[in-house]
Amino acid sequence: MKPKLDDPSGAPYVGASILSADFARLGEEVADVLDAGADFIHVDVMDGHFVPNLSMGPAVCAGVRRAFPDAYLDVHLMVSDPGHWFEPFAQAGADLMTFHVEACEGDAEALAHAERIRELGCAAGIAINPPTEQARIAWIADRFDLVLAMSVIPGYSGQAFMPEALERGKLRAELPSSVRLEIDGGVGPENARRIRDAGFDTLAAASAIFGRPIGERAGVIAELRGAS
Ligand code: DX5
Ligand code: ZN
Repeated sequence: MKPKLDDPSGAPYVGASILSADFARLGEEVADVLDAGADFIHVDVMDGHFVPNLSMGPAVCAGVRRAFPDAYLDVHLMVSDPGHWFEPFAQAGADLMTFHVEACEGDAEALAHAERIRELGCAAGIAINPPTEQARIAWIADRFDLVLAMSVIPGYSGQAFMPEALERGKLRAELPSSVRLEIDGGVGPENARRIRDAGFDTLAAASAIFGRPIGERAGVIAELRGAS
């Protein structure tokens, strides 16, 4: 069953970012992390412009959706012109689309993007990079279904966690419980407790999950969730 973003219990969710999956065996990799207890499949979309890397587009998302009709697809758009991609990713089966505040001109544009995403039947998230002033999202964060604080400079998996991102956990007390607070980048069993204690309720991880042998992934996901 798909997780509900507005789960009133606020139970921690874990998203497995397929950026670190073995792309030659993507279906098996997704099946494995879902079996291992991942709540979301986190789909990292990079355009070679907003970030200095290319990753995957709607065709990959659609393939995952076809093979896993019940999986929750958390699409993280690290792109310069997010509005161009909402429709293609909605058609490709996204459940949630998160775009970056740094890719928006101002509050009005960000809110228009959220409205468009919802018109397409998806949940809307807004992401903020480590160096960006939190004031950029101050007036709009509560209008989203999810706020994503990056804990690396986006572009690659396997980077070191930036501890200053923990400060963003204070948003938890300011946001309604219906808004999820996600963290992404350098997340692993060694820092998961600090992250949850700081206020985050949704943890995305790539290398910490896919970098481990199949038999160990359920344990990693349980540790991220704080269930072990
Ligand atoms: C970073 C991506 C992250 C990345 C996380 O640009 O948005 O989702 O895949 O990778 P790890 O967990 O290895 O830092
Ligand atoms: Zn991501």
